[in-house]
Amino acid sequence: MSLATCVPQTFSSLILPPSTSLLSLSVLPVTNFSANVSSFYRYTQPSISFSNLSFCNVTLSYTHPGQNDNVTIETWLPLSTHWNGLLQALGGGGWQSGRFYLPYEGMKGAVADGYATITTDAGLGYSERSRDWALVSPGNVNLYLLQNLGSVALADEAAIGKEVVKEFYGKKPDYSYWNGCSQGGRQGVMLAQRYPEAYDGISAGAPAIYWSEVMAGTDWSQVVMNDIGEYPFGCEITAISLNATRECDGLDGVTDGVVINIDGCLGSYDPFRLVGEEIDCPQAPGGKVKITEAAAVVLNQTWHGRALADGTPAWVGWTPGSDLIGNGSGLAITNCTVDGKCKGDPVELGVDWFRLFVARNASFDATNLTHEEYDWFVRTSKQVYGGFIETDDPDLGDFRKAGGKMISWHGTVDQILPHKATEKYYNAVSAVMPDVGSFYRHYQIPGLEHCFGGPASNPTSLFQQLRAWVENGTVPESSPIELTVPSGEKQDRIICPFPQKAKYDSACGDEGLAECWACAL
Ligand SMILES: *[C@@H]1O[C@H](CO)[C@@H](O)[C@H](O)[C@H]1NC(C)=O
Ligand SMILES: *[C@@H]1O[C@H](CO)[C@@H](O)[C@H](O)[C@H]1NC(C)=O
Ligand SMILES: *[C@@H]1O[C@H](CO)[C@@H](O)[C@H](O)[C@H]1NC(C)=O
Ligand SMILES: *[C@@H]1O[C@H](CO)[C@@H](O)[C@H](O)[C@H]1NC(C)=O
Ligand SMILES: *[C@@H]1O[C@H](CO)[C@@H](O)[C@H](O)[C@H]1NC(C)=O
Ligand SMILES: *[C@@H]1O[C@H](CO)[C@@H](O)[C@H](O)[C@H]1NC(C)=O
Ligand SMILES: *[C@@H]1O[C@H](CO)[C@@H](O)[C@H](O)[C@H]1NC(C)=O
Ligand SMILES: *[C@@H]1O[C@H](CO)[C@@H](O)[C@H](O)[C@H]1NC(C)=O
Ligand SMILES: *[C@@H]1O[C@H](CO)[C@@H](O)[C@H](O)[C@H]1NC(C)=O
Ligand SMILES: *[C@@H]1O[C@H](CO)[C@@H](O)[C@H](O)[C@H]1NC(C)=O
Ligand SMILES: *[C@@H]1O[C@H](CO)[C@@H](O)[C@H](O)[C@H]1NC(C)=O
Repeated sequence: MSLATCVPQTFSSLILPPSTSLLSLSVLPVTNFSANVSSFYRYTQPSISFSNLSFCNVTLSYTHPGQNDNVTIETWLPLSTHWNGLLQALGGGGWQSGRFYLPYEGMKGAVADGYATITTDAGLGYSERSRDWALVSPGNVNLYLLQNLGSVALADEAAIGKEVVKEFYGKKPDYSYWNGCSQGGRQGVMLAQRYPEAYDGISAGAPAIYWSEVMAGTDWSQVVMNDIGEYPFGCEITAISLNATRECDGLDGVTDGVVINIDGCLGSYDPFRLVGEEIDCPQAPGGKVKITEAAAVVLNQTWHGRALADGTPAWVGWTPGSDLIGNGSGLAITNCTVDGKCKGDPVELGVDWFRLFVARNASFDATNLTHEEYDWFVRTSKQVYGGFIETDDPDLGDFRKAGGKMISWHGTVDQILPHKATEKYYNAVSAVMPDVGSFYRHYQIPGLEHCFGGPASNPTSLFQQLRAWVENGTVPESSPIELTVPSGEKQDRIICPFPQKAKYDSACGDEGLAECWACAL
């Protein structure tokens, strides 16, 4: 309750789930804590600055006896006078479940707002990459750790977090919330599907729902290049992407740098129109290059999405204009020598999944897969790991019954996880649960990249709206965001629960005002 009770004895009768056994407990008062936290890392809450905060840091490690694992959960508890009665768990990102800078930033914001807040490393330690734990021996995957990451550690975290709260404050949280993006979004959706009682409210950003497709997707543009045996310069990809954004921007009636009518753009914009044009290109010898057909093929295939080797469409694609070259990481990045010879440079996330978990071989070279090999990898991934980590079950009946509310949100120019996958999931849920909108709503965010970044801001009111939905039954009908238009001006926009979209009322007269926009089908 106070710093004086922030001692191990306060937690001496902590009850852990019967499947676990405590290894160690550390209880440390933290004082004079200050931070500036960006809304980027809080996903659905505003930026916050604070200083001189005190809280109790309860960190414990436990094992699932017989599994030889060591899972660490870190909980920050504000003093009673500052506690808002709630628990907010922060999700992971990339290959990490928690206990790294992303959830730590989110936890700083949460504890400053008065939440008890929590993160779990799922037993993976501090490692940023799966290669440090994926294989127990050559050919043998560490299935227990994969299972911890996929689901089990999430259930433990919720149960233990509520107990830690109870020991400190004398009562369990009034409501518990999940807040995550990407891997953290997937964790949120897993919780709704498999542990429907764990959280009352779940905010799942850019969720990696269809895990095998997510992993495959990070390599798709590279497989297209391998197919044609050509590796275009990044500048070519960027030139076509920018041209597509500019050409398709106005299709929705408002020219603001963001493509809203994505299918219209796919139907009308021809990525091959720039082939043969000379552009400036810092990567190319002489600083200039003629745009190749290969570059257009890569974009065409990336926008249309994964297809099998025989051409059969297999998965959703990325929005034209998404940044596939990124800032050192992107799906279509190539690595070029000074004399202009390029090769593919696939994102490690997906390559590691194929190499370590599907091929189960740390020396397997998954960087230049043929299309047939790639198809095999995706198929095998689904067969072997479906129950471990995929979160595509559309039946959320138990979550609805438990009274849970979930919000998912996804930027339309997400350059890593195509936002249409979350649309697909929402549609799948709607198909089996026609009342989906009464407990689960999905928001597409035009102009937002993966979790944060791009011309659109994060939906910084959404978490509070989720709370109002859970605690007061106030349904989140729309939510404000800010859009930076090409002139640099910041304009107000709203985001809407899918399948509604924000529609501009031209009679209203100012597209920069939120009140000139309304949600409509
Ligand atoms: C508290 O932290 C600030 C910097 O954040 C530092 O300047 C100050 O000396 C600290 N106060 C105490 C009492 O440690
Ligand atoms: C937060 O930002 C302010 C203003 O830039 C700065 O003075 C302060 O040192 C920052 N605090 C921390 C903990 O970084
Ligand atoms: C910081 O917080 C402590 C504990 O609440 C308090 O005693 C102290 O006066 C605060 N310091 C400042 C500079 O506000
Ligand atoms: C909380 O305690 C754990 C374990 O001692 C430590 O690793 C972590 O850095 C602490 N966090 C803070 C914010 O003090
Ligand atoms: C478990 O992991 C934590 C954090 O990585 C570490 O501090 C602790 O020593 C480990 N415990 C055992 C028994 O290995
Ligand atoms: C990758 O393999 C394809 C044939 O499948 C070949 O055309 C291409 O040159 C290879 N790329 C590299 C960088 O080895
Ligand atoms: C797209 O590229 C074409 C071909 O160079 C050019 O004619 C057109 O003006 C470009 N569109 C925009 C909006 O920049
Ligand atoms: C673009 O991709 C689509 C889907 O794979 C394909 O049907 C179409 O033929 C491609 N266009 C060109 C010009 O290659
Ligand atoms: C590009 O390739 C070179 C030579 O194989 C390699 O040393 C370098 O690390 C690569 N750069 C990147 C960014 O992958
Ligand atoms: C792992 O991959 C390497 C390189 O492709 C190959 O030489 C080796 O035989 C593979 N090992 C196993 C156990 O499959
Ligand atoms: C619930 O409604 C009450 C009364 O209007 C209000 O004070 C409170 O802030 C609401 N709670 C949330 C989480 O919005």
